[in-house]
Amino acid sequence: MSSEPGADTRPNEKPPRRRYDRYVTRTSTLPERGYGCVALESPTDEVNVGHTLRAALCFRAGLVILSNASKDINVRRLKTDPGRAYRHVPVVHTDDLFQGIPEACTPVAVEITDDAIDLSVFVHPERACYIFGPENGSISQETLDRCKLKVKIPTVMSLNLGMTVNIVLYDRAAKANRNRAWKADQSSGKPVAGD
Ligand SMILES: C[S@@+](CC[C@H](N)C(=O)[O-])C[C@H]1O[C@@H](n2cnc3c(N)ncnc32)[C@H](O)[C@@H]1O
Repeated sequence: MSSEPGADTRPNEKPPRRRYDRYVTRTSTLPERGYGCVALESPTDEVNVGHTLRAALCFRAGLVILSNASKDINVRRLKTDPGRAYRHVPVVHTDDLFQGIPEACTPVAVEITDDAIDLSVFVHPERACYIFGPENGSISQETLDRCKLKVKIPTVMSLNLGMTVNIVLYDRAAKANRNRAWKADQSSGKPVAGD
C-alpha cells in the first residue's frame, strides 16, 4: 500500500467501523420468535414433575430445568407424563438453577409476592425461563432476588404446582397466538377483532 504525503490514512489509526446495515434493517421471517422454558426449584412430588413435563411438551417449551429435585423422581417413569416428554423436550438436572438458564433468556419468578405482576396483564419476554417453587414452600429469597420479573396468577390461595405451570405456559401461547392473528389481520387489511 502506498502512503503518499497527505494521504488520508495514518499508519496507527483504526479503520472506520463498517456498518452492517443488513443486520439492522432485515425483518425476521420467523413465524414464532423466542421460546419459553420452565425451571422447578426443589420439586418433591413426581406427580407435579410429570404434569410439568407434559405441559412443556404440549405447549412446546424449549427446556425443563429441575433444580435440586428429589432423588426419588425418575423423569423417565412418571404416571402423569404418559407421553414421556423427556424424549422430546430437553430436561436438565442441576444444583444451581441459574446455571441451566440459556443465554439471553430472562428469568421470571412465578410466585405470589406483593410486587409480582398479575399474569392477565403480563407481557411475556421473547425468551423467558419461568421459575416455580416447591410444593411445600415458595421460591427461595435468593432466587427471587435474582429475578427482575415476577408474575402471579390472581387466586384466593396458592394453586397446585403442576396446574400453575400449565396456566403460565398457556398464557404465553395464547398471547403469542393473539399477536400473530392481530399482525396477520393488520397486514391483510381485514378488520381486527374489537374494531
Ligand atoms: C403449591 S405452591 C406452594 C405452596 C404455597 N407457597 C403456599 O403457601 O400455599 C408451589 C409453587 O406454585 C407456584 N404458585 C402456586 N400458586 C400460584 C399463584 N397463584 N401465582 C403464582 N405462582 C403460584 C409458586 O411458584 C409456588 O412456589
